[in-house]
Amino acid sequence: MRALLHIDASVRKATNPNPDHNSISKRIAIQFIEKWKSLRHTDKYIYRDIGLTPPAFIDQDWIGAVFTPEDSQSPEQREKLALSDQLFDELAQADIILISTPMYNYGMPAPLKAWFDQVMRINKTFSFDLARGDHPIEPLLSGKTLVLVTSCGEFGFGAGGEREHMNHLGPHIKTLGKYLGIESFYEITSEYQEFGDERHRKSVADALKHADLLATELANQE
Ligand SMILES: Cc1cc2nc3c(=O)[nH]c(=O)nc-3n(C[C@H](O)[C@H](O)[C@H](O)COP(=O)(O)O)c2cc1C
Repeated sequence: MRALLHIDASVRKATNPNPDHNSISKRIAIQFIEKWKSLRHTDKYIYRDIGLTPPAFIDQDWIGAVFTPEDSQSPEQREKLALSDQLFDELAQADIILISTPMYNYGMPAPLKAWFDQVMRINKTFSFDLARGDHPIEPLLSGKTLVLVTSCGEFGFGAGGEREHMNHLGPHIKTLGKYLGIESFYEITSEYQEFGDERHRKSVADALKHADLLATELANQE
């Protein structure tokens, strides 16, 4: 049995009275999840819609609590870290993490950054040791697969594309993935949403096919 953690980050719902308002990244993630579940129905599935229910931002008290040894933490500090502990437990259990996200202002939405800030925990997610010289940070988790689903309004954000240098979404998440124990990284992209033309329809159709194929490939791995 494997565990799949599914994080949706769009502030739009998957279905709305006006279907033009439906989240594209959530739609593509649903395609992946439905295929996955049809092939691996006994797996554990954990879901969070952080777009609709954003995690709290970290603050100075949160940092203070994180750097206090567990056996010295006050009840207030334990309470402060309760959400972070829960989100970290979900991450630690997961073999596969599916993150679906829009591009907002050329990067990730604030709720997704808040989620990363909550789960990146010293001595839980990563260790820090100056004895390692100029590279003191090492992940403590390992062996995980990340499937990133993105939707953008413009286009050309991929390798060699005209807006590759403006893409602070996939590359940022890939960088962070190392510290979540990600060892395999896959990306499913949809572009052109703002143009609403044939290029957009083709991009979404291609992404849905890609989601189906990738879910099948990963579900058949042991
Ligand atoms: C606040 C906001 C900021 C956006 N910024 C960008 C951007 O920087 N680049 C881009 O290509 N599209 C941008 N878009 C378009 C979204 O990426 C696009 O609508 C995407 O489909 C949204 O994901 P969703 O359909 O899953 O909600 C932005 C949309 C919103 C609402």
